[in-house]
Amino acid sequence: MRREFVSPLVPLWANEGITVRAGIPDSRRVRWDMNFTHLRFRFRQECRDTFGAADFQKGKMMSLIARTMLCVVFALSGVAMGGDNDPIHLGVDLSRPGAKIDRHIFGQFAEHLGRGIYEGVWVGPESKIPNTRGIRNDVVAALKAIKVPNVRWPGGCFADEYHWRNGIGPRDKRPATLNPNWGGVIEPNTFGTHEFMDFVQQIGAEAYLSINVGSGTPAEAADWLEYLTTSQPTALAKQRAANGHPEPYPIPLLGIGNENWGCGGSMTPDEYVNHLKVYARYARNYNSAQPMRRVAVGPDGADTGYTEAVMKAWKNKTWAWDIEGLSLHNYTVVKWPPAFKATGFGESEYATILKSTLNMETLVSTHGAIMDKYDPDKKIALVVDEWGAWLASTPGSPEGFLEQQNSQRDALVAALNLNIFARHADRVRVANIAQMVNVLQAMIFTNKEKLVLTPTYHVFHMYVPFHDATFVPVTIAAGSYKFGDIELPRVDVVAARDAAGKLWVSLTNLDPQRVANIDLDVAGANITRAVGQSLAAPKIDSVNTFEAPNTVTPKPFAARVVGKKLPVNIPPASVTVIGLE
Ligand code: AHR
Repeated sequence: MRREFVSPLVPLWANEGITVRAGIPDSRRVRWDMNFTHLRFRFRQECRDTFGAADFQKGKMMSLIARTMLCVVFALSGVAMGGDNDPIHLGVDLSRPGAKIDRHIFGQFAEHLGRGIYEGVWVGPESKIPNTRGIRNDVVAALKAIKVPNVRWPGGCFADEYHWRNGIGPRDKRPATLNPNWGGVIEPNTFGTHEFMDFVQQIGAEAYLSINVGSGTPAEAADWLEYLTTSQPTALAKQRAANGHPEPYPIPLLGIGNENWGCGGSMTPDEYVNHLKVYARYARNYNSAQPMRRVAVGPDGADTGYTEAVMKAWKNKTWAWDIEGLSLHNYTVVKWPPAFKATGFGESEYATILKSTLNMETLVSTHGAIMDKYDPDKKIALVVDEWGAWLASTPGSPEGFLEQQNSQRDALVAALNLNIFARHADRVRVANIAQMVNVLQAMIFTNKEKLVLTPTYHVFHMYVPFHDATFVPVTIAAGSYKFGDIELPRVDVVAARDAAGKLWVSLTNLDPQRVANIDLDVAGANITRAVGQSLAAPKIDSVNTFEAPNTVTPKPFAARVVGKKLPVNIPPASVTVIGLE
């Protein structure tokens, strides 16, 4: 359908379903310049539509005249302002499909930390908050919508001290223990093994269990796996049945430890490898209906010690043990302790955080290259099972609860990381953002009976078409976005084909000032239009709150072919996902 002419006095991008108020920086003069710049791009789009459209009707003659006049204004303004925003050519090459983008890169991480589990997921069956067997219905519904593929649990550092037997049996008989890592609070153990398995089943996800290699024993871990997975009538299987689950559980992913270079025991790489061999041998999966991938602890950011040691040991392994994954933990944090504000920041902090996020590319490439040395067939997955922005905690929030707001900037942090994983889909096959609810870069915030979805949640929702889609290479020369000494790519793109053959493109415009005016060119495909969603925001630090939950929400986005090109104009500091038809 042809779009109607829209006066430039209405909100910019309104006929694309997107409203952008360019509010950065905040001086009125600059705001006017930016709006004027936007108008110019807007006119450019109108010009291309006017002269490139094939479906012009007689009744639109007045509209044509008006549009022609605007084109003249646009042309003059372009000359006057130097034409600094020429269309960016984006080529999509369907002839060279890449690896499958494993849906498990969209995994979540839920630790017993602050209000991540208690309040965030578990309210108990007696709660007035609507729940199913103690698990919040609103949280389950929201997570189902983003098709969470797996949830890593119970930690994190919490897992390094977790004793699973405390979390089974009648809840009123479970012992109260301590959570020394996270605020030293009481751990009631009311959310344990069965509650976790119920939760993942309710949201349609798979279990990614972390066993305790820090303070536990191989026997304790072996027992947990037997308790969970055997169908034989052993004492542990009978105990499982008595606790309400006669059928064995599926455990598709098993983490052998957590950060054993740090909170998991400060082990050297060689010390950890010795533990790894033992746990990988004895923490057996007895559920033949569900293969289990074992993930070894790997690097902390750029440190390659664990990568080398684990991969070397794996290459020389005997028949007695094996692994299928190597973990990488890397947060967007910039400095320690985390000090970057989650909201109320300026463009300098925005650019710095995005720069730090893009370092994930270097890490994945560096560790991937070491893995290639020992594992050229890429049998071992790189599992980025802790990633995300770790910012200064919300003022007034409890010590150690790691509560932080989530802004439009975090939406870009999420998209950029996911795009890096997608580009390395042949090696990065599992990833888990930290963390799912109320902690760090969360999908969801809860406050008693209230729930709010964060900008990061919306990115995960928009990326659902990329689950298990096939990577498609793109070419783009978008130039850079500069702020002070920082220079970043202006636009980041990934494309993929879903199982039905439909092509999806995600476009992230890092530049908070300039619209990215992109001409999409899909060689060899008969594309007529693009339909999707765009996540833009009034400001780079816009957030959703319980009082204003829809400040940052995706809006419908549509564009159609003009001549041989598909012009798509991407708002500043935004994430746009389109399906091509
Ligand atoms: O996600 C918070 C903590 O960060 C995890 O418990 C730990 O593994 C990491 O250091």
